[in-house]
Amino acid sequence: MFEHLAWWLLALLAVVTLLLCWRRWHRQSFWYVVGYPLTAITVRATWRKVALGCGLTKKRQRFWFTTVPGLISSSGTVRVKRKFQRVTVDTKPWMWMPMPTRHGWRVTIRTLEGQVPEDYSGAAERLAHSWRVHAVRVSSPRPGRVVLSAIMRDPLVHVDKLLPSPGLLKVTVGRLETGKPWIIDFRTVPHWMNAGATQSGKSNLANALIVGLAPQPVALVGFDLKGGVEFTPYGPRLSALATCRAESVGLLDDLVALMTDRMGLCRQAGARNIWQLPPALRPIPVVVLVDELAELYLMADKSEKDEIAKTSTALLRVAQLGRAFGIYLFCCGQRIGSDLGPGVTALRAQCSGRICHRVNDPETATMTLGDLDPAALVSARAIAAETPGVAIVASQDGQWYRARSFYVSEATAEHAAHAYAHLAPSWADVMASRVDGDVPDMHAA
Ligand SMILES: Nc1ncnc2c1ncn2[C@@H]1O[C@H](COP(=O)(O)OP(=O)(O)OP(=O)(O)O)[C@@H](O)[C@H]1O
Ligand SMILES: [Mg+2]
Repeated sequence: MFEHLAWWLLALLAVVTLLLCWRRWHRQSFWYVVGYPLTAITVRATWRKVALGCGLTKKRQRFWFTTVPGLISSSGTVRVKRKFQRVTVDTKPWMWMPMPTRHGWRVTIRTLEGQVPEDYSGAAERLAHSWRVHAVRVSSPRPGRVVLSAIMRDPLVHVDKLLPSPGLLKVTVGRLETGKPWIIDFRTVPHWMNAGATQSGKSNLANALIVGLAPQPVALVGFDLKGGVEFTPYGPRLSALATCRAESVGLLDDLVALMTDRMGLCRQAGARNIWQLPPALRPIPVVVLVDELAELYLMADKSEKDEIAKTSTALLRVAQLGRAFGIYLFCCGQRIGSDLGPGVTALRAQCSGRICHRVNDPETATMTLGDLDPAALVSARAIAAETPGVAIVASQDGQWYRARSFYVSEATAEHAAHAYAHLAPSWADVMASRVDGDVPDMHAA
């Protein structure tokens, strides 16, 4: 008898050890084969209790037929006096089968009448605690459905190396919390605002962009009002660099002139934007990187007022019209608030891509992310100082994501700038691509 028990215990121990080793050495396959099925069953089995606890159920009147008086219903003890009567029960939203993802699982829920996705976003933290997962993100693919994505461990603690860029003006700068690559695509979202406290990872993201864009046929332009300390090392790949206010005014004037030229070129050819032009005529796209945006707006004394007004107007014009003419903005700053002047508010409105790194105050998060889901603001404020590069990203799909940029050291960016220096057109060449000679009218063709 004891011998049998010992054998059983030994076998059990061996199985547990095997499972632990499997989990330790190949977590991914362990999750798909063992972890996920158990989780899916548990989640489905406990959904009523969890939905009730998180306030996601609705009271409904039901006819109740029973032969057992004193039956327990979901809403508590219902003393059934008759065999057939109307009682109030808690109805849970219908849950599909959870599906495994790289970092957890995802499940579609059919909302109950009167419920909106915000009800689920509001309960996301409670759901995360109930399911003992790192976070639950809510999205709504179509009316009446919400998708709850449970992330078991923070996948942004370690992110891998910079991936190759997927196409022209697209750069894979990091990884989203969902496990998907974080792609900055200037052709879809032309202008970006990148905010965060000091040492939060703003310049690292700019480095990632430089490394991604350096091998592409684009002209890079830098505004570095920190005296040029950030961008000067990348000078070989930059077509133009402004390091003080006077240079900025000149460079912005050039950009506006370039935009006006391109406008003329498109008008003559009957094209709405440079991408509709034949490749032979198409001017090179220009990506403008601005570090410490606030420096462009800060006034030391009254004498700078006119210069600042000019800068602000030019930058705003570039933001308003640049998209069609292949001029894209990426503005970094610690604070991008209205206290810097009305120009900043207008510029912010033009930047549909928003990135909010760790911030020190809730206002900066609100200013950067706008009136996004309050959960995004909470998430932005919860970014730890130990994880620089983690940010909340909002872009074209109306969703927000937690993401982390790949670590790109200054040395890597500098190396890329030197390696692709031959691809940097001189600023004179960029400016010279003007409307010379005959431009075919594409509508006439
Ligand atoms: N994604 C990342 N992974 C790992 N480390 C990172 C990441 N992003 C940034 N860091 C580290 O965090 C530090 C600060 O980053 P960075 O210089 O980009 O911050 P910043 O927001 O530009 O700061 P400042 O406002 O002072 O210029 C750097 O030492 C960098 O190595
Ligand atoms: Mg910086």
